[in-house]
Amino acid sequence: MQIAERGRVVDDVADQIGNTPTVDISQFSPNPDVSLFAKLESFNPTGSVKDRVALSLIDQAERDGLLVRGSGGVILEPTSGNTGIGLALIGRLRGYQVKAVMPESVSTERVQLLQGFGAEVIFSAAEKGTNESINVAKELAHENPSYFMPYQYGNKANPQSHYVATGPEIVRDVPDVDMFVAGLGTGGTLMGVGKALREHNPNAKIVAAAPHPDDKVQGLRSIEHGFIPPILDLDALDARIMVEAEESFFWTRKLLLDAGIFVGVSSGAVLASAIRAARRLESGTIVMLFADGGWKYLSTGIYTRDWSDIQNEVEGQTWW
Ligand SMILES: Cc1ncc(COP(=O)(O)O)c(C=O)c1O
Repeated sequence: MQIAERGRVVDDVADQIGNTPTVDISQFSPNPDVSLFAKLESFNPTGSVKDRVALSLIDQAERDGLLVRGSGGVILEPTSGNTGIGLALIGRLRGYQVKAVMPESVSTERVQLLQGFGAEVIFSAAEKGTNESINVAKELAHENPSYFMPYQYGNKANPQSHYVATGPEIVRDVPDVDMFVAGLGTGGTLMGVGKALREHNPNAKIVAAAPHPDDKVQGLRSIEHGFIPPILDLDALDARIMVEAEESFFWTRKLLLDAGIFVGVSSGAVLASAIRAARRLESGTIVMLFADGGWKYLSTGIYTRDWSDIQNEVEGQTWW
């Protein structure tokens, strides 16, 4: 058995951000000529891709003089959870207080993780979704000018983290990528990785997995609700594939049962989108980014539910 190259001594856990593994899961491909690879961002210290973004946002703010290490400065961010958890980690390591504004409906695990890392959670009205978290955070920042709001939706340091690291890691690890599929939240992953991949192969297709406008898939957002993050350039996307929540849950569970891959629900949406895309391609290589691990979603019950009742329907939509 080969031992993976992860056993190295680091100064602190932030040094373990990035360089995540990629797994060949072509067994999920409906097309024998299309390979599917999944990059597992759950291997980051807090279990999500957003550790990369949090580190990049804080590094940039320090370079710009907006944050000073050890100063106890306050970082305030509207977040569906993962970015807040990443910020909370880096905040602990560098002496900042972190306040995260989230819809009241987020999973209890997210709230507990944030509080566990010492962050303060501020709730916005659940029924108004993440757009309301953004409004509340903006108001609070306005009332408290000393707070620093990284604002991942509009901060170039977000896509930049993917341009300088996530994308190049994919180019290094998977030869000849024809298509990249990731969930659409802020758009940071798709923009940053997309730019890096296209520099390597101008024909690489960049595809977003988006939730159905009426559905909630934690971590993803629908631009149909009217808010287009400033960092998101829709023209840079080749396609947006809409996935129903149930379909995302089905594939999330199947990933665990058939491949032992324990991921969050947005990864199920990404796999569903990639399966649809694979059907349309003649041949090629698709790389998917699985944004986080499943731990934060255990309380939803999706990993223990029997999904056989919707299997035919879902496989009819996404399978051959
Ligand atoms: C679980 C999960 N998946 C996907 C995304 C989307 O990533 P991005 O913000 O880079 O578009 C997020 C973002 O919050 C997320 O938390």
